[in-house]
Amino acid sequence: MKRILLSAFALSTVMTFAQQYGGMWIPTEVNEKEMKELGMKISAKDIFDPTKASIKDAVVQFDGGCTAEIISGKGLLLTNHHCGYDNIQSHSTVENDLLTNGFWAKDMNGELPNPGVTVDFITDIKEVTKDILAGTDNLSGADLSKKINDNIDAYKKAQKIESYQTISVRPMYYGNKYYAFVIETYKDIRLVGAPPSSIGKYGSDTDNWVWPRHTGDFSMFRIYADKNNKPAEYSKDNIPYTPKHFLPISIKDKKEDDFTFVFGFPGRTTEYLPAIAVEKIMLETDPAMIAVRDIALKTLDEKMRVDPATKIKYASKYARVANYWKKWIGEVEGLKKSNAVEKKKQYEQMLISKNPGIKTTIDQLTQKYNEQAPYNLHRAYYSEIVRNSDTFTLAGLFNNYIQSYEAGKMDAKNIDALKARLADIYKDYDAELDAKVTAKILALYANKTEAKFLPKDFDQLKNETRNLGMMDNVSKISMITGRTKDDNNVAKNMDKLFADQKTLVENLKKDPLIQMFGAFKTSYLETTDKQVTALQTDIDALQKKFMAQQMETDKDRKFFPDANSTLRVTYGKVRGSNPRDAVTYGYQTHLAGVMEKYIPGDYEFDLPKKLINLYNTKDYGIYKDKTGDVPVNFTATNHTTGGNSGSPALDANGNLIGLNFDRQWEGTMSDINYDPRLCRNIMVDTKYILFVIDKYADAKWLINEMKIVK
Ligand code: ARG
Ligand code: GLU
Repeated sequence: MKRILLSAFALSTVMTFAQQYGGMWIPTEVNEKEMKELGMKISAKDIFDPTKASIKDAVVQFDGGCTAEIISGKGLLLTNHHCGYDNIQSHSTVENDLLTNGFWAKDMNGELPNPGVTVDFITDIKEVTKDILAGTDNLSGADLSKKINDNIDAYKKAQKIESYQTISVRPMYYGNKYYAFVIETYKDIRLVGAPPSSIGKYGSDTDNWVWPRHTGDFSMFRIYADKNNKPAEYSKDNIPYTPKHFLPISIKDKKEDDFTFVFGFPGRTTEYLPAIAVEKIMLETDPAMIAVRDIALKTLDEKMRVDPATKIKYASKYARVANYWKKWIGEVEGLKKSNAVEKKKQYEQMLISKNPGIKTTIDQLTQKYNEQAPYNLHRAYYSEIVRNSDTFTLAGLFNNYIQSYEAGKMDAKNIDALKARLADIYKDYDAELDAKVTAKILALYANKTEAKFLPKDFDQLKNETRNLGMMDNVSKISMITGRTKDDNNVAKNMDKLFADQKTLVENLKKDPLIQMFGAFKTSYLETTDKQVTALQTDIDALQKKFMAQQMETDKDRKFFPDANSTLRVTYGKVRGSNPRDAVTYGYQTHLAGVMEKYIPGDYEFDLPKKLINLYNTKDYGIYKDKTGDVPVNFTATNHTTGGNSGSPALDANGNLIGLNFDRQWEGTMSDINYDPRLCRNIMVDTKYILFVIDKYADAKWLINEMKIVK
């Protein structure tokens, strides 16, 4: 025991200088001194300078979720395969499945438009706490929120911005600070290239979140602009965007301990929760969400394995559901293994010893989180049931529609938006299969939920076999599932039915599934949602206080604000890890390792013939490293999370060396408790990306656009 502790201690002291608690820094506030000590050769201004071209001008938020970066003077964008997945899928048919075959435009004319896809540049960041918190000292609850919202509106109105810019004001440190971001949104984004899934998603769900990894998780798009290089809706007359900066691509060999930083849009972390909240996630809400998805995934998989059309239809949905299912499993294990709750408790004791007043805050938080726990657990089940049942998702949309219609709120624009959303769901919807999923997860729900939360008659749903018959029958007569043949089938007659809304609403109100969902939702809102929200208002106020107290009391620690989808920089070193006793992970994988995993014909580990040929003939060109093999993926100590997918990993000089796409499983608890021993981000090596583009796809015209640093 002592030995293990000692070695963990030795490791952690080695790491203390670099982000002991992790760190996702606001780009205007990076610790330049520490970054330089770790090896950075450029300055903080080279990373983010609002007044002149800097690396920020090459980093964008991709379609509101992932990150992407510009890698040529003609607006060529690099992001992950899994970030472009929906778009690659939507250009696919059974005859020409771009997911299976890959896609490479022959020239710019061959690039494929993606209506609705956007990218956001951040051109300026300012701390605006004084403006936003002015006059809020004596306010609380709803008055406080209202004043803050008014201040935000007033701040935005007072700024002079261009027509193509917007401002977003975001709270940091639980509302102790506020920051304003100036955003420029480009709207004509075209698909340029993607490897087949057997490269871009190699290892699929088995290898997802896992190191050692061998995935070429990249795809390429291009930003188009109007003739003045400004944002514009799609037009064939638009021209490739000329960026203020683009990232040179390094194909130099990497060494362990090389400095690296990742620049992107991490989505959400909760690093400053009290022990009690971490315990509830670990023991209650994560396991509930995992249990629902266990069932949903198994049910989908049974059909996807035997039916190719279902496999294409459900590929994206399945991957999305499986992704967080697996992440939560890793998170629970990692929280246990890193002793997160115990560590938090010790930290709280340390804070109390320095500042006894903190005890009251922690006690109040403990009481509120305990009070909220049963409601949170029910909420976890409820929301996972709705999310994993397309039938209920549809019923939910129709339910809202009925209410909006009756409130007189359905104008033409709202109807178009609803129709688009419905079409999107129906496109990848198999009503029979979904009825099965719904029946099974409802049985789990009815069995696991306290009687006081169950709507009337819902305990009848405890029997799975009975549910299967019931859901199958009901979905055959429901007008919203697309299984009836008559004129009332919404999936097949959407335009016609929406032309007479009065009749449509009358019929929808009689639909058995909408009625069932309505009862389910009403009961959830009454028994749970209200309570969760009320308690959350109290918790938010206490978390704000607790955050401020941590920052005042723990003077040695450098605090960063939790991720909230705003632009951040994280830095660290290229490094492997020691996830278990006697187990050491190297920092880099190679093409030989891709081949070791190869299983001909397998749905996760098959490989394209051409890649195997390149391996057999060792046709690696300039893309091999000193081992003579092509490096594929590597790990580093950067603190990343969902949303950092597609983020550039840069070297000491600001050259692109990798494309972030994942974390290792043992470290996925870094969203709640970063542990320098276990947490690693996973990137695709730029050499592998260029190798695939050049040697596999023969897309030399793209290589020629790039600036390659040898
Ligand atoms: N785990 C990575 C992330 O959170 C990759 C997910 C996509 N890949 C997959 N096999 N589902 O997004
Ligand atoms: N794959 C994740 C994403 O889509 C990034 C991995 C992570 O959560 O760290 O953003």
